[in-house]
Amino acid sequence: MTTFPLSPGSTIGILGGGQLGRMLAMAAARLGFDVAILSPEADGPAARVAAHSIVGDYQDPVALKALADISDVITFEFENVPAPALAELQRLGAEVAPPARALAVSQDRLVEKTFLNEAGIPTVTFARVDEAPDLRAAFQKLGAPLLLKTRQGGYDGKGQVWVDRAGGADIAMGALGDRPSIAESPADFRRELAIIAARGRDGEIALYPLTESHHEGGILRRTTAPAKASRRLLAEAERIAATLLGALDYVGVIGVELFERDDGRLLVNEFAPRVHNTGHWTLDGCEVDQFEQHIRAIAGWPLGPTAAIHHVEMTNLLGEDVNGWARLARETESRLWLYGKRDALAGRKMGHVNRLSRLDPQAT
Ligand SMILES: Nc1ncnc2c1ncn2[C@@H]1O[C@H](COP(=O)(O)OP(=O)(O)O)[C@@H](O)[C@H]1O
Ligand SMILES: [Mg+2]
Repeated sequence: MTTFPLSPGSTIGILGGGQLGRMLAMAAARLGFDVAILSPEADGPAARVAAHSIVGDYQDPVALKALADISDVITFEFENVPAPALAELQRLGAEVAPPARALAVSQDRLVEKTFLNEAGIPTVTFARVDEAPDLRAAFQKLGAPLLLKTRQGGYDGKGQVWVDRAGGADIAMGALGDRPSIAESPADFRRELAIIAARGRDGEIALYPLTESHHEGGILRRTTAPAKASRRLLAEAERIAATLLGALDYVGVIGVELFERDDGRLLVNEFAPRVHNTGHWTLDGCEVDQFEQHIRAIAGWPLGPTAAIHHVEMTNLLGEDVNGWARLARETESRLWLYGKRDALAGRKMGHVNRLSRLDPQAT
């Protein structure tokens, strides 16, 4: 039995070995914890900064047992961890946070949007699409155009296609591999926003400032933080985040992607039950960053202060952008984060740069 708060010297297990795991491991080390990474990749970004690395498939019972044996609490850094992996860890008596339910809900866009609406959180209108006739029916109900998305497995804008009219249903379904999908109305957004939030083991909640997201080709390119926002908008974003954390009985950090419509209404696009790319600015822009906050929350520690101390523009370094590291390192008001990935494939998140400027008191 794990008792909380965890003492320094305890071990935190992480499923997943990418950059989010790397930055979580660095934050954990700062608080005196050791980290164990379970990943199919032997020397990925996280394993190279962690005390322990277990190489194996997420469903490999031997690897899961090794992780459970060594860890005092186990978390995950990407949302496609198979649900049975968490169930197996719990069967072995491991403490898992965030809750498995939050992961399951976020893994299926239909379940996710239904859950959000039932919790009183608005989203775009949507329809379940299992086959092409369902998509044709969705045009009757929702109008045109529609954004067809696979229910599972999509990320960085993959697994999505716009469909203009009912006659395009078969081709669109084929383009997504005829998989169970969801059709969404256009969000008609003025801006994309995001909010990072945390909930501790005692139910305490901490909310970071609202931020503005800029995507290119479905991939987050830049975050500006804090976003310029009215009190009303801020209060609504905070209501949404707090409602979601409560509805999921959540422990840890969550990332919530939002649409701000022309009429000022806020809709949730999706949430990720983990630290999030739109929160990377907190590494240099906040008193306590999202990675330390997540470690604090799952370890049963008090949450830290979330106030902004700088205005930050976070830019992702995608693919070959990373080759500009020497020039970026010369920028005095910038903080460079590189993930140690070996191949700068096109569109791959290789690092990010946080450009700091004076916090405008009007902006918050
Ligand atoms: N219903 C929608 N209407 C308009 N644009 C959308 C809609 N849904 C998603 N998008 C755009 O596509 C991007 C990626 O979609 P999202 O559902 O967040 O998938 P992913 O899991 O790939 O991030 C969003 O950030 C937004 O720019
Ligand atoms: Mg998204």
